[in-house]
Amino acid sequence: MARIVAISGSRREASTTKAALRVALEAAADAGAETDLIDLGAVDLPLYHPDEDDQGDSERLKRRVREADGVLAGTPVYRGSYSSTFKNFHDFCGSHEYEDTAVGLLATAGGGSYGGTLEHLRSTFRNVHAWVVPHEVGIRGASSEIDDGRFRDDDLRKRTERLGRIVTEHAERLRE
Ligand SMILES: Cc1cc2nc3c(=O)[nH]c(=O)nc-3n(C[C@H](O)[C@H](O)[C@H](O)COP(=O)(O)O)c2cc1C
Repeated sequence: MARIVAISGSRREASTTKAALRVALEAAADAGAETDLIDLGAVDLPLYHPDEDDQGDSERLKRRVREADGVLAGTPVYRGSYSSTFKNFHDFCGSHEYEDTAVGLLATAGGGSYGGTLEHLRSTFRNVHAWVVPHEVGIRGASSEIDDGRFRDDDLRKRTERLGRIVTEHAERLRE
């Protein structure tokens, strides 16, 4: 059974990114995966310091990524890129965590522009040898699209569920 972990790069309690990732995770579970969610708003993770090995929850969080066969990476769009919260976690994890891992990308935007954020995620995940799947999800006007944890738009929900399924399928292949 593939293990899929979602990583949410928002610190907000009522995060739309986290809500969308939960939808993708449910689809992954329906496809037979064991699922896990790392909510970066609810962990103890100081600003990465290269001179220090073990900071806050870093070792436990890295292990959860390392043991996963697939990752669903989600972030809010901040200044046309991904959040500093996501970047901080990115600095802790390297190819040791992401080698042979299928990765699916998701970005939520307040406005309409998420393309740069998905590109930045794609190139930085490639840098750590992840297998980033071509299917990706961008959600514009996220606070209106996601209400109380649910998608208003069926097509967007289906696209997000598809991300969970595709990452699970590729994760299964990479396990073989
Ligand atoms: C510091 C900051 C910068 C932001 N920059 C952008 C931006 O460049 N483009 C955009 O469309 N939305 C921007 N937003 C809005 C967020 O992307 C949007 O509200 C997102 O859905 C929040 O995700 P969350 O609910 O998971 O926290 C910004 C929000 C914050 C707090």
